[in-house]
Amino acid sequence: MKAFYTFFTILFLSILANAQKFQNLALTPPMGWNSWNRFECDGVNETVIKEMADAMVLNGLKDVGYQYIVIDDCWQVGRDNNGYIIVDKEKFPSGMKALADYIHSKGLKFGIYSDAGTATCAGRPGSKGFEVKDAETYAKWGVDYLKYDWCNTQGQDAKQYYTIMRDALFKAGRPIVFSMCEWGENKPWEWAEDVSHLYRTTYDIDMKGRFDGDIWGNQLGWTKILDKQVGLEKYAGPGHWNDPDMLAVGNSNMTTNEARAHFTMWCMLAAPLMAGNDLRSMSVNDKNILTNKALISINQDKLGKQGFKIEDFGNFEIWQKELSKGDIAICLFNREFNRKRYNIDWESIPIKNFIGKYSVIDLWNNQNIGTTESKFTIEIPSRDVVVYRLKKVL
Ligand code: GLA
Repeated sequence: MKAFYTFFTILFLSILANAQKFQNLALTPPMGWNSWNRFECDGVNETVIKEMADAMVLNGLKDVGYQYIVIDDCWQVGRDNNGYIIVDKEKFPSGMKALADYIHSKGLKFGIYSDAGTATCAGRPGSKGFEVKDAETYAKWGVDYLKYDWCNTQGQDAKQYYTIMRDALFKAGRPIVFSMCEWGENKPWEWAEDVSHLYRTTYDIDMKGRFDGDIWGNQLGWTKILDKQVGLEKYAGPGHWNDPDMLAVGNSNMTTNEARAHFTMWCMLAAPLMAGNDLRSMSVNDKNILTNKALISINQDKLGKQGFKIEDFGNFEIWQKELSKGDIAICLFNREFNRKRYNIDWESIPIKNFIGKYSVIDLWNNQNIGTTESKFTIEIPSRDVVVYRLKKVL
């Protein structure tokens, strides 16, 4: 009888041990850099990745919280006779372990990419049927983050296949942030909290950072993506984030105003902040945007609440994000080509949990501008934001 119980206890424990994601990872939205938006398939290689790690440190991104360097598609070429993945030796001659070591030696973390189907979106080998071997390999190399795509998955159930990789990662034993990328097709926000640490909610962001539009049906201007986040706020929290895709800051076609607005809205959304530009050659403006500490602290706030829209006047919107200690971030977003004048009367804006008095800090201008008791008029430049931190006065 004792043996019987022991058997079932072991069975139960082993089921438990295999049936979870790594806990206590990504308690705030992950911050880092990903190769895809700037380098796509052809441009990614070992030198680029190492130089990006160097630049992340030298340009002060590491100091403000960026840490993951993620190689997206096109690092893999095939499988060996035992089913283990083969690295593209032309692009990555030193291999992934050496690259991971290099990235770790900079105090950064290493991310990699694969796909739940038979092939990745760029036609490289996918992980379907090889999940355990791939997870073991990643753990052996020292991978800290896995982006897992959804191309070539015809007939596969998303929850089932993402769970297979979640379990394989858990079994491999190395804490790896699991980033799902099934583009919101199966409403992952409704079921992925226990499967992954972040889940893409839409098709790809337009890599060139276009403000609007829907390019080729699967590359969305960033405001199109923003619109699709409305209502998803209740599904995000520490360890499980909605992912509206990487940042396009620093890629052509964006004005400084648009880049500031895009970055601000991603901070308001508690979105992962994965830069997608060339960190080695970015402009001072882009660097100042990506490293703005006041904005990053809105994004990284420990409460982990995603921001939401509280007013919509067509091309002019007001968003709110609840922060720790009763603070509140308020963002006014002007989508028009013209400047927008707006009279601020805090009592008349429908801010949730707005109780008592707050001091008001204009975050992009780094200025304390009084309290919520005073009314004033502001101008929001074209396609830009004004964002305030309301600090609770105790
Ligand atoms: C898909 C993803 C992108 C990128 C490419 C790589 O389109 O959504 O983010 O990873 O695949 O091929």
